Amino acid sequence: MPTLVELAAEHTSLSEDDVAHLSALISEWGMLADFSFADLLLYVPVVSPSGTNWLTASQVRAATGQTLYQSDLVGEYADDTDRPFIAAAAQSGQIQKGEITLPYLSDPVNMTAIPVMREGKAVAVLTREVSTVSGRRPGQLERTYLSIFDDFATMVATGLFPFTGRVADASVAPRVGDGVIVLDGSARVRYASPNAVSALHRIGIRANAVGQSLAELGFAHDAARASFERREPVVEELDQEHVVTLLVRSIPILKRGARAVNVIGGVVLMRDVSELRRRDRLILTKDATIKEIHHRVKNNLQTISSLLRLQGRRLASDEAKAAVADSVRRIRTIALVHETLSREPGEDVAFIEIVRPLIQLTQESLQSSDRPIRFEVRGDAGRLPATIATPLSVVILELLQNVVDHAFGDVRRDGVVRVFLQRDKQDDALHIRVIDNGVGVDDQFNIAQATGLGLSIVRTLVTTELGGTIAMRPATQQELDDAAFNEGDEQIGTVVDLRIPTESAH
Ligand SMILES: Nc1ncnc2c1ncn2[C@@H]1O[C@H](COP(=O)(O)OP(=O)(O)O)[C@@H](O)[C@H]1O
Ligand SMILES: [Mg+2]
Repeated sequence: MPTLVELAAEHTSLSEDDVAHLSALISEWGMLADFSFADLLLYVPVVSPSGTNWLTASQVRAATGQTLYQSDLVGEYADDTDRPFIAAAAQSGQIQKGEITLPYLSDPVNMTAIPVMREGKAVAVLTREVSTVSGRRPGQLERTYLSIFDDFATMVATGLFPFTGRVADASVAPRVGDGVIVLDGSARVRYASPNAVSALHRIGIRANAVGQSLAELGFAHDAARASFERREPVVEELDQEHVVTLLVRSIPILKRGARAVNVIGGVVLMRDVSELRRRDRLILTKDATIKEIHHRVKNNLQTISSLLRLQGRRLASDEAKAAVADSVRRIRTIALVHETLSREPGEDVAFIEIVRPLIQLTQESLQSSDRPIRFEVRGDAGRLPATIATPLSVVILELLQNVVDHAFGDVRRDGVVRVFLQRDKQDDALHIRVIDNGVGVDDQFNIAQATGLGLSIVRTLVTTELGGTIAMRPATQQELDDAAFNEGDEQIGTVVDLRIPTESAH
């Protein structure tokens, strides 16, 4: 089905501002239809060789009444014999009312044709079309709503509706069926619909509302008065100790006087959004709880690493000291992930934010400053769930630590290690390459047979926890060139390639 904007662009000579005015009108007109208990249609003038014709640009049915048209009329033409009041309304700039008969309907149709005025010009015609034998017996609610519709119709015909400026978010706005309060010109309640009365009861307002202002009724803030002063709709949420929440939208009814535009009344639509908000709050507290847990895990891990460090200081053997120091680093690595998780909402982290502190952690273990090693990160890994980020951090720590421990030996050379991260969306995997320009591993090196604790941890985490693959070998000249190493002539270097599937990480 074509949209109003498409239809207008293709068939009419309406300006962009005219079309924006009409779009604003139809974003609000569900409310008008509900107040009118009828179908509303919007006709735009189209200039054809046979003169002006009218194209149905939009249609809305009332949630409060029966529809006259089972089919969709958008995109169909209406001519003057069919609907003579449309042309009359557009020409006179006045609301026209009358009865028409349509060939496909047995009963005559009551039609109200309202010129949609913008800057003194009728840019379209809005009609209310309802069967003359409509079954609804008018009670107080019906009479009140119809009179409100008439007020809004007059606003449309005098360019006061839709309101200019901010566009209201129609998706959460209360509807007429949710509850209506009708206000007089001094923002006092003239009528409250049964649903509105129930909504008021839920927030503890039991007094008879008629004759009172919203503030007198116990509203924390008088949205109605605010909308009267600003002459535009005001949306507010009324919260009764987090138990009941009412979403309130107050719309002023304006009338052009001889000299000025006056506020002659208003409507307040209200909807009980307690359940919605309760769920919002639940999600918020859940999020906060998860963050808090990550925070505590991080603290506990820090305590453990501190205890270990204390113990390490008392050891005499260098080997034992080194082993404990390694463990301390591994624990701190895991703590890092939890720290990042405790800062961000959700269960995933931007992995780059872990890689950087990991590098820092490794650098701290570089004792002698006469052997500088430069660490560089290229690319990005995107966001990863904690289930991947945690083991992967330990893997990267081990690899970086090995570069520090083994790659440069006694060689006096400016060491560089580069970490390349690449998220492959197609293949749903993360590719990581850690490459250094150190002494290299020998050709026969096979990580599958490596017996050191560090590489054993790496191998186990990659293949079992992460379901990925790992390769470790001497770097080729090409790889060193690709990694932009140009520090010396004969270079060897080690390259480690990881492929980690990320199916579960989206
Ligand atoms: N980047 C590297 N450059 C050179 N040799 C390496 C590199 N990474 C690992 N190695 C070699 O692999 C061995 C095993 O490493 P690992 O399992 O971490 O044990 P550890 O670090 O405790 O010696 C190291 O002892 C070293 O010989
Ligand atoms: Mg190691």
